Amino acid sequence: MPEYVHGGDVYSYTARFGSVPVDLSANINPYGIPERVRQAMRDAIEACTQYPDPFCRAPRQAIAEAEGVAPDRIYCGSGAADVLDRLAAVLRPKTALLLAPTFAEYERTLAGAELRFHTLRADEDFAVTERILQDITPDLDAVYLCNPNNPTGRTIDPALLRDIAVRCAQIGARLIVDECFLDFVPGGETLAPYLDEFPSLVLLRAYTKMYAVPGVRFGWCMTADTALIEGLYRAGQPWNVSVVAQACAVACAGERDYARQTAARIAAERAYLTESLTARGLWVCPGEANFLLLRARDTDLQDKLARRGILIRDCANYRGLARGYYRTAVKTREESKSLLAALDDIRKEET
Ligand SMILES: Cc1ncc(COP(=O)(O)O)c(C=O)c1O
Repeated sequence: MPEYVHGGDVYSYTARFGSVPVDLSANINPYGIPERVRQAMRDAIEACTQYPDPFCRAPRQAIAEAEGVAPDRIYCGSGAADVLDRLAAVLRPKTALLLAPTFAEYERTLAGAELRFHTLRADEDFAVTERILQDITPDLDAVYLCNPNNPTGRTIDPALLRDIAVRCAQIGARLIVDECFLDFVPGGETLAPYLDEFPSLVLLRAYTKMYAVPGVRFGWCMTADTALIEGLYRAGQPWNVSVVAQACAVACAGERDYARQTAARIAAERAYLTESLTARGLWVCPGEANFLLLRARDTDLQDKLARRGILIRDCANYRGLARGYYRTAVKTREESKSLLAALDDIRKEET
């Protein structure tokens, strides 16, 4: 089997340890799938005797109403990851700028392109600052941003984002902004209102994390470039979003209150976890999402926690990070306490 580079690999964990871990390696809403979304998926089973709608009309309409964006500006895929693959296949940028560190799939989908990296700095707490504008040079075809960024959780200042969009428009580069975790940021500002002003802007979204449905596979992008949307349809099989995933998406689009409530609850848990980890001598990146980037002196922390039933993400394989960096999801108080108790246990054993 090839190497798996992401979090959430509970299958390998269970094969190794014979039990199910407290999984803090994937950043999924701990409060679970809303009941109406569950019911919508159950109801959809009857319609599985048909192929799914290749044009995802129902989810596009529901998303359009929730986001205030016209349905013909929305393309739906089998998770945001599918949309990323298709974007790379259609856009085929020769030269692209990526953040470092950031979500690894951008780099994978752009194999063959010349990649430049805007390295975020530990001494700036991994914030995207105005420094990035110098790296947006006229020879670029595409710029990929992640807001909030995985694995730092840092959001990009809305005024700076606008400057970046203006700069990309001036040099004729696509700007792809991954907003898959933006729902978790209370008051987080989407670039959706700017789609008309910047036709080269593409926004990536998913219901995966907020509605706790990574196993269903639904994500989408939004752009005013309708020729790009047509290209995305042609870039793979027509039935990439299952009947169940489409029903799930329609139900998720109607659950905006659930998202708002979750964001507020997670913000309180994030504050608790940040304080508790800092008190234990770990450096915690001031992120605003449902996960935290940590730095510890111990470079074997992931393995030590795994042996105690806790799975976190070792971030040593992120471009731009070194050994000693880890990411933990922010979940329930109980799960945070399990992590803290395991850290205390490790410390006790080693002193
Ligand atoms: C920043 C970011 N974007 C997109 C994705 C992919 O989302 P999906 O599961 O909807 O394909 C992930 C998954 O971890 C992610 O971290």
